[in-house]
Amino acid sequence: MFKKNFVWGVATASYQIEGGAHTADKGLNVWDVGSATPGRIFEGQRGDVACDHYHLFKEDVRLMKEFKIGGYRFSVNWARLLPDGTGKISEDGKRFYLELLAELKKAGIQPWVTLFHWDYPYALYQKGGWLNPDSPKWFEEYAAVCAELFKDDVTHFILINEPQCFLGLGHSTGEHAPFLKLPDSEVMRAAHNTLLGCGLAEKRIRKICGDRVKIGTAQAYWPALPVTEADVELAREETFACHKNFGSVNYYTDPLLFGKYPDDVLAWQRECGFTFPESDMQIIKSKLDFYGLNTYSGDRVTKKDGKTVHPKPAPTVPRTDMRWTVDPDALYYGPKFIWERYALPIVYTENGVALAEWKDLNGQINDDSRIDFLKRYLRALSRAADEVEIDGYFYWSLIDNFEWAEGFSKKFGLIHVDYETQERTPKKSAYFYKRVIETNGEEIWK
Ligand code: BGC
Repeated sequence: MFKKNFVWGVATASYQIEGGAHTADKGLNVWDVGSATPGRIFEGQRGDVACDHYHLFKEDVRLMKEFKIGGYRFSVNWARLLPDGTGKISEDGKRFYLELLAELKKAGIQPWVTLFHWDYPYALYQKGGWLNPDSPKWFEEYAAVCAELFKDDVTHFILINEPQCFLGLGHSTGEHAPFLKLPDSEVMRAAHNTLLGCGLAEKRIRKICGDRVKIGTAQAYWPALPVTEADVELAREETFACHKNFGSVNYYTDPLLFGKYPDDVLAWQRECGFTFPESDMQIIKSKLDFYGLNTYSGDRVTKKDGKTVHPKPAPTVPRTDMRWTVDPDALYYGPKFIWERYALPIVYTENGVALAEWKDLNGQINDDSRIDFLKRYLRALSRAADEVEIDGYFYWSLIDNFEWAEGFSKKFGLIHVDYETQERTPKKSAYFYKRVIETNGEEIWK
């Protein structure tokens, strides 16, 4: 069962929906610039206009109100607010976010603001980005500007979205902006600076806002899941093991919450020759009020002949348009593993499904599979909520949008967007989600 006051929300991110890439004095970011190189993004698509939320935000808030959305998670486009990344504040950037917040307040929707969802200011990237030793301070300054400007309106700040992706995909495998393929020791440096930035930002925001706001992170979390009940311990170990990549959650949240990297991460860092002063860990260690999880699926694990194996899913297992398996247990075991390790209230800051769908001849989007997905995942989450503290769920995403390297080809929205006319059309699932919200989850059992 979901608790009273459970937050039912939707999530978006600035570069994926805002557009307005060249308005007023906005600075460029690494996606504005990096996506121009052919071959990086599906069919050369860009987020320059995207859903034009920069101009249409009032309509988007009106739709959220109509569908009874309780919380809206969105991100601030750092270079829209601080065109150079630090220093001068853009009047237009400030106006845009204050107007959006005012609109949300009128609609009675809680604003959950992510400070950084991957659109890093290009001006700072040119100075080395997250590799520059000053980068933690740049992030702290930006966080302080947001805290000062938004403190009367924002209820929750999320420091960063998915370090696993902007570091792993952005700095290691080169699939996302800034499209770098750095050696592991350099990515470790960028990760460490990110964590220092989070530690500094958390302390500054608290100084400015006191207890009026809650602070958390949003982690990309793809838990290992047991094949049978006997594999639960193994699944937990695998979830938190270092696989010598930047994909685990505890690479980041052990330092943030315990002030210490996991032992196997430390061993990997030593192997790569990456070192840092021990005193950094006191800066990184933070007090977080909630643990945000972004989960779409999981990865099954078991033992065979004494060895850990990840069996391939059977061909009959349903897959989304991202080719991710539909595996609702991710929302049952996943939160339990996190709760048992960190004992922090959990919020699903993202979960959702991309489907190959289109408007039918009657102009409707009958996305029954999304409704089925929601029922399955929310039933699993409800079982978890009987055992651990879960405070909210944000569906990804409010509207179809720019899905990074996949361009506009993947559709996650509850609301369809016609990118030619910018017309919004709620899908059948939007009406379903509204009933879920109105019944505090009872609708999922029907
Ligand atoms: C990201 C979103 C993205 C979604 C679906 C998450 O990794 O935070 O920006 O659109 O997953 O891929």
